[in-house]
Amino acid sequence: DISRTAERTGMRVYLIGGIVRDLFLERPNDDIDIVVEGNGIDFAEHLRTDYGGSVKMHETFGTASWIHPSGLYIDVTSARLEYYERPASLPDVELSTLSEDLYRRDFTINSMALCLNPEVFGDLVDPFNGQADLRSKTIKVLHNLSFIDDPTRILRAVRFETRFDFLMDKQTESLALNSMARMRDLSAHRIVEEMKRLFKDEDPPGTIKRLFKLTFWQQFGVDDGSAEQSYIHAGQLKMFYEIHKPPAGTKPRWFNYFAIPFFTSKKMYLMSQFSLTKRNNKFLQDIRNLSDMEGVEQIREPGEFHRFLKHYEDEAIIFMIAKENMENEDIITSYLKRRIDMPVFLTGEDLIQEGMKPGPHFRGILLELEVAVLNGEINTRDEAVAWLHE
Ligand code: CTP
Repeated sequence: DISRTAERTGMRVYLIGGIVRDLFLERPNDDIDIVVEGNGIDFAEHLRTDYGGSVKMHETFGTASWIHPSGLYIDVTSARLEYYERPASLPDVELSTLSEDLYRRDFTINSMALCLNPEVFGDLVDPFNGQADLRSKTIKVLHNLSFIDDPTRILRAVRFETRFDFLMDKQTESLALNSMARMRDLSAHRIVEEMKRLFKDEDPPGTIKRLFKLTFWQQFGVDDGSAEQSYIHAGQLKMFYEIHKPPAGTKPRWFNYFAIPFFTSKKMYLMSQFSLTKRNNKFLQDIRNLSDMEGVEQIREPGEFHRFLKHYEDEAIIFMIAKENMENEDIITSYLKRRIDMPVFLTGEDLIQEGMKPGPHFRGILLELEVAVLNGEINTRDEAVAWLHE
């Protein structure tokens, strides 16, 4: 589709960035970015005229998204806006405006473009030899100031390393180390956005370890020496979810992994700046309170856990179990599963109906009832009432 519109309008159009990389790696990618040597917004309009769908403009950036009738998003940018006003076009000029766009990017493997115009369809523009780096599985910056321009690129590099099983070349790695202190200048929000993406990828324990090596955690007060223990904890956390498929989900959330190095260093207080949401704050608070779970190892019945854990969220409980690698983790898991749909046979109202005097002791009675229900000792309302009068 794009190819035909490119021909009709006479504009040069390229597929660019991550999608080109993933095409060569034969990996799926729905993020389609195209660059037009000309006005991108106009081109998106042309696409709509030719094939329907709709166009969303981002005027300040001179970019637009064409939403294909199938719902697919295609982002269209302009290689250079002022170029549009030039009357004639020379091929080498075109190439250099595109190169300028490519030069602003992070890594060689992300700085390739594929021409979509029919007469030169599939021609590769690869000024930094990203092809060779794809073949040798190397992450390489385009120039020495890349990480200074944007320190989040270091985190992107780690993401691509783990995702594709690539490695930074020596030069890139030493630039990453040298620029790591800049990470502290970023807002917590930007770091959080990168962490979410990092810990979604395949190997969170490996990612944690790699970030120690590059001194990322150390910038935020985590001790150098916590690397090994953090790696182990992350591995156990990952495994716990894989084995038990707990109610909390099939994978730990990014924040659980992010917390591990701080937790291992006993410096949870240093990470509150990153918690940002109510759920994360509750997680931190739970972890802090659970740090001292003495006696839990001896428990053998699901209901008994309830006395300790009633007020804690699943993910915090699992975080702690994973750290201890406890023997009775099967029982805790069955406790977590039972408590989600634990039936409520009696309420405070019911106790009054049954002739009891209201008061703070109700709490204790209802807790004991829940413990018995979770242990499978009480299965109906009648049994609950009978239990009450025992
Ligand atoms: N980019 C960059 N510097 C950044 C972020 C992005 O140079 N800090 C460039 C890269 O060339 C990248 C493109 O912008 O290919 C698109 O960015 P994004 O969609 O975030 O990354 P992808 O490479 O597509 O990675 P992913 O597959 O994880 O989305």
